[in-house]
Amino acid sequence: MSFRIIGTGMYVPPKAVTNDDLAKIVDTNDEWITKRVGIKERRISETEFTSEMGAKAAKAALDDAGIQASDLDMILAATVSGETVSPSMACMIQNRLGATCPVMELNAACSAFLYLLETAAAFFALHKEYQKILVVGCERMSGILDWTDRSTCVIFGDGSGAAVLERGEGYLDSVCTVKGGDDVIKIPHFIGTSPWFKTEQDTPYIHMAGQETFKYAVSAIESDITTLLERNNLTMDDIAYIVPHQANQRILDFAAKRLKVSTDKFVSNIAKYGNTSSASVPMALHELKESGKLKRGDKLIMCAFGGGLSNMACLLEY
Ligand code: UT7
Repeated sequence: MSFRIIGTGMYVPPKAVTNDDLAKIVDTNDEWITKRVGIKERRISETEFTSEMGAKAAKAALDDAGIQASDLDMILAATVSGETVSPSMACMIQNRLGATCPVMELNAACSAFLYLLETAAAFFALHKEYQKILVVGCERMSGILDWTDRSTCVIFGDGSGAAVLERGEGYLDSVCTVKGGDDVIKIPHFIGTSPWFKTEQDTPYIHMAGQETFKYAVSAIESDITTLLERNNLTMDDIAYIVPHQANQRILDFAAKRLKVSTDKFVSNIAKYGNTSSASVPMALHELKESGKLKRGDKLIMCAFGGGLSNMACLLEY
């Protein structure tokens, strides 16, 4: 049992922060960011918490699917930057939408939207009565950045993306990989104030070994896509679009080169929004759909990589 995507939506906060704006607060410049990462601007929330942005993308996806919150059988959400550990962002989104279905949140960092799809497929298989599941990736990355660290604060942005899934055929195959550890990327929690706890902890912001992540990301995209193509007797000509996690334009260019495919096949909106972690894949999917280029029956590969380290890719028929 599987699903097909019947609606998509996204939301970004109105405040656009350009590379020149960032050059006023850290030692950076538009040329470096444009050339090394491909970002021109990102949206930064001034007033909205993560769940509020998540609920707005979710509502847009419901409207796009032409359904009500009361039609949902499940809400699955992902974030690394929620305003509360509990209630989860999934609970908060359910509340904001006025839905009554069960909900669940998961954390797989930037790969999370694909893990949401995988989890949704499992719920459809487990509960034969489930017809519609909402999946939401929502992030206020600006809240977990060290704004004095130029190697990380210039590459992330805030936003949310969502999709409505309906029982049916469309989710064809997936490949999931985790290499657990915190040496390459980590976002420590606030350590607390226990008078008995003696161990030191890094600051509660994103810490990332950029180059190591970069190499891992290019290899992950190449191997995950190759696996999906081989396993399903497909070639790149059968795939209409690749919807990747938006971390760095150069990662996509390198991966395209290794896969011997035009970069045009990789959907990219990183220039406008930066890296929005779990929201980036659904936001890219939504913009692809809105462009009018995506047709029913098109085969898509979505792929993502990030903290964990985790990477995942899936093959879908739209
Ligand atoms: O979504 C989670 C997954 N995350 C990713 O996939 C991110 C993957 N990594 C990357 O995208 C890149 O590694 C970065 C964008 C983070 C960094 O780009 P890079 O080309 O790997 O730069 P680098 O770390 O090798 O640094 C090159 C130089 C250094 O200066 P020196 O030592 O050569 O003098 C850095 O200090 O660039 C410097 N630098 C900057 N310069 C201006 C680092 N950040 C900046 C900056 N502005 N913002």
